[in-house]
Amino acid sequence: MILPIYTYGQSVLRKVAEPIEKDYPKLNELIDNMYETMKHAEGVGLAAPQVGLPIRLFVIDLEPLKGDNPELADFKLAMINPEILEESIEEVEFDEGCLSVPGISETVSRPEEIKIRYLDTDFNEHVEVFNGFKARVIQHEYDHLEGHLFTDRVKPLRRQLLKSKLTNIARGKTATKYKIK
Ligand code: NI
Repeated sequence: MILPIYTYGQSVLRKVAEPIEKDYPKLNELIDNMYETMKHAEGVGLAAPQVGLPIRLFVIDLEPLKGDNPELADFKLAMINPEILEESIEEVEFDEGCLSVPGISETVSRPEEIKIRYLDTDFNEHVEVFNGFKARVIQHEYDHLEGHLFTDRVKPLRRQLLKSKLTNIARGKTATKYKIK
């Protein structure tokens, strides 16, 4: 089932999300719905707060990017209760966008490499190191669980220029091909 995506201005996007337990109701169904919603909206990552749920869960599927980056083809996973343990000092810049902030793309600087602990959909724990584009997407989604949006991380001068666009999104003046809230 395709869910509506909550956009800039919705308070759920600003909450620090809560960890979940294995008995969270209909968790597999929710994860399936998040993958479906993300695919329909042509995104590569989607966090639970973006579908209105302040819980620590996000899904990523980099398959659509495999054309230019074959190593991303099999990168499809859900992370539950993730915790970033380490970040590299080295940062890299990259253009980001977000299904919750439609029509905006801006350069964001983030650590190049991270170490993260998370639970998979069977609640098995993993500790893994990611770098490059994978680390980029994970950090973007992780931010959603902390109540942050990528636009918070844009350099101040650029952020000033974004203000009116963000206000328009918050007022519902935005056009998307997918259902929003
Ligand atoms: Ni996002």
